[in-house]
Amino acid sequence: MKGVLICGGLGTRLRPLTEVTNKSLLPVYDQPLIFYPLQTLLSGGITEIMVITGPENIDQMTGFLGSGSKFNCKFTYRVQDEPKGIAQALGMAEEFAAGDSICALLGDNIYFDNISQHIRAFTGGGHIFVKQVPDPKRFGVVEVDADRVVSIEEKPEAPRSDLAQTGCYLYDNSCFEFIRTMQPSARGELEITDVTKWYHQNGKLGYSLLKDEWIDAGTFESLHKAAILVRERKLAAVKPAVDKITASV
Ligand code: DAU
Repeated sequence: MKGVLICGGLGTRLRPLTEVTNKSLLPVYDQPLIFYPLQTLLSGGITEIMVITGPENIDQMTGFLGSGSKFNCKFTYRVQDEPKGIAQALGMAEEFAAGDSICALLGDNIYFDNISQHIRAFTGGGHIFVKQVPDPKRFGVVEVDADRVVSIEEKPEAPRSDLAQTGCYLYDNSCFEFIRTMQPSARGELEITDVTKWYHQNGKLGYSLLKDEWIDAGTFESLHKAAILVRERKLAAVKPAVDKITASV
């Protein structure tokens, strides 16, 4: 399986922070945002990763991430000239995938669940990760019945559930055949939700429900919340060690 980090787009909801800086390089407490989705790919055993970004940020991304040697992986870069949709960005990874399945991750998504076992266990079709959210209208919305997906809609006016499709997509290589046939949506983009829908229509879509926090850090509020959560978890992780040292003094 190959990894694709989708980090293009204009980051308009985070202006002026994204005026000259790619959203994925903004700080989340003590690390840049992109480290989190990157860590998700690495923990799933993925070492060949394509990074897709816009022309205005490609220098920053290559300068910062480099060849991948410092993360024990290998990066390949592609420029998406215009942000014409997440599925369009993914389509640019077809040659890189070279027949393999892919794990595509949005560069602004942070998973607190450990989803590595799902990535490693993937065998074919499509698989998505859904999370209960208070504001489903902002997302792709997934309706489920027990272990079956019933429907998926991109940012619906009247959501049929409170489950968001999060930004990690496990697809077998046939996604590229479908992407080649796609037409832009009403907002002029090739929608990733249409790719997921295609697997659903073909009876090949699985899903996992996330239990822990998940953040799409594309707004000031969510980026701030991400920093708070990361800080809390880090401090909680070091606390037992600190307590032990304190007790022994
Ligand atoms: O975060 C999960 C949500 O991500 C899903 O629930 C939605 O179904 C999915 O469409 C997407 O919605 P967003 O509104 O969050 O998408 P956004 O335009 O913010 O793009 C997400 C990331 O993808 C962002 O880091 C920029 C990148 N991107 C986006 C577009 C449109 C690209 O690299 N190229 C693009 O053309």
